[in-house]
Amino acid sequence: MKAGRRLAFPRWNSFEMTPEASTAPGRGEKTGDAFEEAWPKIDAIGGFLVPGQERCLFDLVRALPNDAVILEVGSFLGRSTVSMALACRGTDRHIFAVDTFEGNATDFVNGANNVHWTGSDFLQTFEANLERSGVRQYVTPLRGTSRDIAKHWAQPIDLLFLDGSHEFEDVKADFEDFFRWLVPGGCVALHDVTPSWPGVLRVWRKQVRPQTERHGNLSSLAYGYKPVSAQPVVNVVLPVHNRAEDTRRCLQNLQRQDYAGPMPIFVVDDGSTDGTAEMLRTEFPSVRVLRGDGNLWWTGAMALAVRHLMPRRRDGDYLLAVNNDSLLPKDAVSGLVEVSTRERRAVVSGAARSPEGHAIPVGGRFHWGRVLSTGVSGSTHDIGEDTDCVEVDAVFGRLSLFPMEVFAEVGNFDSERFPHYWGDTEFCVRIKKQGSRRILVTNRVTATCRTRPGPGLT
Ligand SMILES: C[S@@+](CC[C@H](N)C(=O)[O-])C[C@H]1O[C@@H](n2cnc3c(N)ncnc32)[C@H](O)[C@@H]1O
Repeated sequence: MKAGRRLAFPRWNSFEMTPEASTAPGRGEKTGDAFEEAWPKIDAIGGFLVPGQERCLFDLVRALPNDAVILEVGSFLGRSTVSMALACRGTDRHIFAVDTFEGNATDFVNGANNVHWTGSDFLQTFEANLERSGVRQYVTPLRGTSRDIAKHWAQPIDLLFLDGSHEFEDVKADFEDFFRWLVPGGCVALHDVTPSWPGVLRVWRKQVRPQTERHGNLSSLAYGYKPVSAQPVVNVVLPVHNRAEDTRRCLQNLQRQDYAGPMPIFVVDDGSTDGTAEMLRTEFPSVRVLRGDGNLWWTGAMALAVRHLMPRRRDGDYLLAVNNDSLLPKDAVSGLVEVSTRERRAVVSGAARSPEGHAIPVGGRFHWGRVLSTGVSGSTHDIGEDTDCVEVDAVFGRLSLFPMEVFAEVGNFDSERFPHYWGDTEFCVRIKKQGSRRILVTNRVTATCRTRPGPGLT
């Protein structure tokens, strides 16, 4: 926030929301007694919500899936955070609370408006408020500016609540940085949508409202839902065992993707002993880690990820298998999704080359009846100049996009019979046998992989 502005005055009195706006979330369970019981804990915390908005936030959270991810920008002492966290009790819902936890001397005058904290910043008070309310386990504070946090954010969001800086450029950046992670059907809420805060009001009118539907509000707290027809979720799965440096490079590279939809990243860490776990925890806090004991190998790691993702799957979701020695061009994910969508949700692999420019096999055609199969590198030479795709019998897991409904159709990767090699191939054979879905290698996307060029599938 800029110096010179104070938050400690009422900002909502004269503002009327648009006529169609409702005053309650309108879906999910009835809050009834649950909120009444929560209220004293919320009311003990100083803050800037207009009376009634606490219940509105509580209701919005109660309507979310049981494992929902909530991102709050601007937590201050935790009044809004605790309102939401009390609706997480008994579920796997989790709140990430982004704040500098510093404010500045002019934004937040300690003691003004009945708002107090101790120490040089208010993180301690925020955490004490969580403890006292019994919700510490449901909240992860992320200390920093929202722009910095956004650079490393990498998981889908079910509810995005923006109440950080109220400057137009900052609110706009917060919305743009995090809305791309909001799942289709997810909710975005802004606080202080009122003429007293023209920056917030402008972002609501120009950006949030046009890109969302089913709007509602409680006074200056306004919200809307992302249409379900928006970009599909691409779950990126990276099976790793040691080689932390490769994983770091690969994750940094993935975070530069220009894909407009949510792209959560899952690392399946199969018993690494080289500091991979620590590196993921400290450098990539929003990457989700699934752990193996060192015996998963490639197929077991993929099967574990599929088991984790399938119960959470929504229509249209994808799984993208990536090897950690692969570096992708910025438009790789958008390119693969584009080809798969165009080709009626085909399974699609990108092409791959070594840093020296040698083509690396990414898929294969079989000559049934003979043991040998043919590798397809996906290079222009193999695919032909006149088309950007070639049909194959199987793609290898180096850079392969699978529409997630295929796991419902043909089952999971077979880690029992093919723990490491051929797990990808055998899975594709089942897809092919089923008969309705194409498996393609496209030149639209070419990854750079360090693996030496091999002789194909053999
Ligand atoms: C209006 S207060 C939030 C009030 C809180 N939601 C409540 O219910 O009490 C705004 C908060 O945003 C934080 N903030 C301001 N600019 C920020 C930025 N660029 N990044 C992260 N936090 C920021 C401030 O430190 C402050 O705690």
